[in-house]
Amino acid sequence: MSELLNIWKVKESEFPQTGTTEEKLKFILNYAILAPSSHNTQPWLFQIDSEAIYLYADRSRGLFVADPKERELIISCGTALYNLRIALHHFGYKGQIITFPDPSSLLC
Ligand SMILES: Cc1cc2nc3c(=O)[nH]c(=O)nc-3n(C[C@H](O)[C@H](O)[C@H](O)COP(=O)(O)O)c2cc1C
Repeated sequence: MSELLNIWKVKESEFPQTGTTEEKLKFILNYAILAPSSHNTQPWLFQIDSEAIYLYADRSRGLFVADPKERELIISCGTALYNLRIALHHFGYKGQIITFPDPSSLLC
């Protein structure tokens, strides 16, 4: 079976209970990346830093014709965040969400 399909075979029992926080968060990302995305573009990037996971929109995966305002790209990142939150809760993490940049600092 191809590597592409194997990502669906993530097993809860393989959660690294005794591993580092980074190993645990990396495992949990296996669930985030199963999220649906517009035209399966999977326009997200994750970065683990200590006890935080950063989620970035990967604009290089944007659909310049079908989604010129990147609306669906951002919705797709939202689906990954939603999956991530469910998986975090499942494995015992509270999972505080902090949006950035701070919306109050943006000029409209
Ligand atoms: C996360 C995500 C998943 C999507 N999955 C599908 C899909 O499985 N099949 C499909 O036909 N369109 C899919 N789409 C495209 C939506 O159907 C598309 O946004 C819609 O047709 C546009 O209508 P709207 O601008 O009113 O949202 C998906 C879009 C997003 C953002």
